[in-house]
Amino acid sequence: MGKYVVLQQPLLTHKLTIIRDKKTDNATFRRVVDEITELMVYEVTRDLPLEDVALETPIGKTVQPKLAGKEPVIVPVLRAGLGMLNGFLHMLPNAEVGYIGMSRNEETLEAHEYFVRVPQDIAERKCFIVDPMLATGGSIIDAIGALIKRGVPENAIRVASIVAAPDGVKAVQAKYPDVDLYVAVEDEKLMPNGYIYPGLGDAGDRLNGTVKSD
Ligand code: PRP
Ligand code: URA
Repeated sequence: MGKYVVLQQPLLTHKLTIIRDKKTDNATFRRVVDEITELMVYEVTRDLPLEDVALETPIGKTVQPKLAGKEPVIVPVLRAGLGMLNGFLHMLPNAEVGYIGMSRNEETLEAHEYFVRVPQDIAERKCFIVDPMLATGGSIIDAIGALIKRGVPENAIRVASIVAAPDGVKAVQAKYPDVDLYVAVEDEKLMPNGYIYPGLGDAGDRLNGTVKSD
């Protein structure tokens, strides 16, 4: 069974309040999403495996741990996931990047995949799918499905979302029980129109400065 971690930390909570506020301007919204992401990376990478390497400090020879295996792949779900990409790359600067484009139909709330471009050897790497909003869970479920179709094992996938709805979390866990899921907060509920309450509105529009987009 994969992990489900709701990060609880006063700085995170404070920053969430800033991005929830509809009066927060685009520049501040983008900057604070980036800051929240950096705080999340600390938790999301907490148990990554290490391997010993031999090296010499200025004082003498030693064996010390470093991250094991190939560099991971950060997979932002377009568009809003792009807002979390830099936060991950600040902490994992040599990570590879793959992209999955998903758009949610505003009436049916079903996700539609419109773009996938990921490293060829992605099946051999740990993958971090990033998307600030996990509402019905449909976009994340399809993004996980796109990686599994390309050979990535379920237990090599971690999802990082800033705000999650309880129904969406349950849907992802039911479909992919071995995927690890990290969220900054689980909000009260999903509204009938598919928005998370209290949430922060449309993350893609707020990150991109668009009012409504097709
Ligand atoms: C938003 C958000 C998630 C999705 C979450 O994307 O960024 O990807 O909705 O909803 P779900 O869990 O019900 O699938 P949207 O489709 O609005 O596209 P955008 O990021 O381009 O704005
Ligand atoms: N997508 C968003 O951007 N916000 C929501 O509240 C739900 C889905």
